[in-house]
Amino acid sequence: MKKKAIALLLILIMIIQTSGCEKAESEKTKTLRVGVVLYASDDKFINALTSIMKELFQRRESEDLKIVMSVKNGANDQRAENDVVDEMMDAGCDILVVNLVDRTAPSKIINLARENNVPVIFFNREPVKEDLMQWDKMYYVGCDSAQSGEIQGKLAADMIKQDFSKYDKNGDGKIQYVMLEGEAGHQDAILRTDYSVETLKAEGIKLEKISYQFADWSRAQAENKMQQIISKYGDTVELVLANNDEMALGAIEAYEKADISLDRRPLIYGIDGLDDALSAIKKGTLQGTVYNDKEEQARNIVNLAIDLYKGNSLSSYNIQDGKYLMSEYQRVDISNVDDFIN
Ligand code: BGC
Ligand code: CA
Repeated sequence: MKKKAIALLLILIMIIQTSGCEKAESEKTKTLRVGVVLYASDDKFINALTSIMKELFQRRESEDLKIVMSVKNGANDQRAENDVVDEMMDAGCDILVVNLVDRTAPSKIINLARENNVPVIFFNREPVKEDLMQWDKMYYVGCDSAQSGEIQGKLAADMIKQDFSKYDKNGDGKIQYVMLEGEAGHQDAILRTDYSVETLKAEGIKLEKISYQFADWSRAQAENKMQQIISKYGDTVELVLANNDEMALGAIEAYEKADISLDRRPLIYGIDGLDDALSAIKKGTLQGTVYNDKEEQARNIVNLAIDLYKGNSLSSYNIQDGKYLMSEYQRVDISNVDDFIN
C-alpha cells in the first residue's frame, strides 16, 4: 500500500515537473508577426520577390523564434490598401512591410503604424523623403532607379555602336525608338525613361522618338500598344526601350504575332532579369535586361524586420540618411546571361 502511494506520488511530481518545463519553453518562444502588403496581386516582379522573402523568413525560424508572415494586397487602390493595413493592425502585427499603391499617399499607413508603434519597411515603390522622415521607425528597401535607366541606355548604345548601319535600318543616321513606360508617377517609370534616353544621347547616338506609351508594367498592355505601333509604322521601329521585362516581352509577342522575322525586328531592352526575360535573351528575341536584385532586396527586408523586432543594433547595415537600404542593378546580355540563370 505504502509503496504504491509513493510510486503514485512520484508519478504525480514528474507530471507536474514536465508540464512546468513545457510551459517555460513555450514562454521562451516568441512569435514575430510580419504583415506584408503588396500594391496588387499580379505583378510578376513583386511576386517573385515576395516568395523569396517568405522562404528567407522560414529559414530564420528557430526554437525561440516563430515567424508568421501574412501577405495581403491593395488591389491597386490606395484606400483599399489602407484598409488592409488597418485590419492587419487589429489582428496583431509586429513589423509592417509595405509596397504602396500610390507612393505619394502613405500618410494613412504611417499614422496607423505610429499609433500602434509598428515599424514599417517600405519597398519597391518609394515614398518621398519628407514622408519617410516623419518617423524614425520607417525604412525603404529598393534600388537607385536612375542607375537602371543608365545601364539600359548603355547596353543599347554599346550594341548600336558596334554596327550602326545595321541597326539604323532606314539609313537616316538616327535611331527611331519606342518607349514603353511603366505606371505614371512610379519612380522607376520616370527615372528609367529619362536616364535611358539621356545615356544613349550622351553616348553620341542620335535618336528619334516614334512613340511613348504607358503600359503599366504589363505584358498584355504592352503587346496591345506595340501592335498598334506596328500597324501604324510597320517594321520601321529600330529600338524598343521598356521600363521592365514584362513590357519588353509584350513587345516581342506583338512582333511574333505580326509575323515579323527576327532580322527585321528592332533591338529590344527590358529591366528586371526575371526568368522569361533571361530565356528570351538566350533565344535572341531580347537583346538585354538590367538585373533588379530581388534576392538582395528580400534579404534586406528580412534581416531588417528581424533586427527591428529584436531591437538589435543596425550599425552593420549600410543605411543611407537613416532610411535607405539600396541594392545595385546589374547589366545582363548574351555575354553573361548564363550567370543569372540558375
Ligand atoms: C519592376 C517592375 C514592377 C514594379 C512594381 C519595378 O521595380 O521593375 O517590374 O512591375 O517595380 O512596382
Ligand atoms: Ca534610322
